[in-house]
Amino acid sequence: MRTKILMVCLGNICRSPLAEGILKSKLDPSKFEVASAGTGGYHIGALPDQRSIEVAKKYHIDITDQRAMKFSPYHFEEFEYIYVMDTANYRDVIALALSEKEKEKVKLILNEVHPNENTSVPDPYYGGDQGFENVYQMLDEACTIIAKKIQY
Ligand code: 4NP
Repeated sequence: MRTKILMVCLGNICRSPLAEGILKSKLDPSKFEVASAGTGGYHIGALPDQRSIEVAKKYHIDITDQRAMKFSPYHFEEFEYIYVMDTANYRDVIALALSEKEKEKVKLILNEVHPNENTSVPDPYYGGDQGFENVYQMLDEACTIIAKKIQY
């Protein structure tokens, strides 16, 4: 069975679709499945934000097959690792967990780069394109570490 990893942000149109695309590009698809979801349901069914699509494309990653979905408590069973983008996402996801085992699956993604610092990936939705480049670089660094960690 493939190991399943879920990336979570608020809208599932800016940060977590990028995280999904970046981590997928670093893993063998026959062994790992990566998906993403939002804690909010405002954009269910939508394509990623055009600015996320563009920055991913710049690094040869296509995320246009993705459609936004809302995080559901069922995802605790389905996924082995759940990476959230910011502390509000962490609070919202943890609030839906029914056991310690479920809570332990949830990690702030930048803690992979800066352990225990609880740094958030800034929400680029209301910012300019530079915000998306910045988010891409942060997520690329985190996903490189995650890929190494889960493969060996
Ligand atoms: P994301 O960014 O959580 O990185 O997908 C956002 C996208 C949309 C909204 C908020 C954040 N929104 O409020 O619509």
